[in-house]
Amino acid sequence: MKQLLENKTALVTGAARGIGKAIALRLAEEGCRIAFTDLVLNDQVEETRQAVEAKGGICRAYAGNAADFDETHKVVEQVVKDFGQIDILVNNAGITKDTLLLRMTEQQWDDVINVNLKSAFNFIHAVTPYMMRQRSGSIISMSSIVGIYGNAGQANYAASKAGIIALTETTAKEFGSRGIRANAIAPGFVITDMTAALPQATLDEFVRRIPMRRGATPEEIANVALFLASDLSSYVSGQTIQVTGAM
Ligand code: NAI
Repeated sequence: MKQLLENKTALVTGAARGIGKAIALRLAEEGCRIAFTDLVLNDQVEETRQAVEAKGGICRAYAGNAADFDETHKVVEQVVKDFGQIDILVNNAGITKDTLLLRMTEQQWDDVINVNLKSAFNFIHAVTPYMMRQRSGSIISMSSIVGIYGNAGQANYAASKAGIIALTETTAKEFGSRGIRANAIAPGFVITDMTAALPQATLDEFVRRIPMRRGATPEEIANVALFLASDLSSYVSGQTIQVTGAM
């Protein structure tokens, strides 16, 4: 049977673990070649690389700080040298530095905006010239439900994720005529290392507020990414899909 992403190459940022890893694995299951980045090439990265290859796909890992404009362009150039093309970009790398606004330092603000929002600009800027030549491409960026509604204690994070939505809509408008689609995913609460760091009381409160009474698995987010990456969503662009268990 034909796979959804045969002969495609995806570049996923921050995929050593969590949602990025789940996305890399899910795309590989559908025949996609995978290039992924993370801050450093460590054991976790190697484990992810091997897990993706075990799905039958070719996979390479690249070290790079997604918040760094020049580094990002070098990584993208190398990926194109190695794979010849980039059909799918997943802007997934992200961090939190939570605190109430008045306690937030300039550094905490800048770090989160740079890693979560500027990174997506960096990669879109580096990848779209290649996608334009191919006259096709799908760009998927990780937003968050807090980018839509805000959240006390997350001014930096919420602003970065709201920025992702505006960047996505603008990218979709600027590149639509070139065959490039751009969409965002806004998860609610996903069970990963990022959320495991939260206090138990916060986690319990999250679950209480979710009508489906549980957090999402990374695989449930990855399935939505697969839809957006593939031709199943060939006329979907400029959208933010909420994946929140009805929160
Ligand atoms: P995670 O913390 O488990 O994984 C993030 C990965 O990004 C890590 O491997 C980390 O090393 C990498 N990374 C961090 N900074 C980087 C940088 N500057 N350059 C390259 N790589 C970098 O996080 P998780 O939970 O898997 O989240 C993934 C994305 O989904 C993030 O953008 C996050 O904001 C978003 N998200 C997560 C939710 C959740 O509940 N876990 C909810 C909504 C959105």
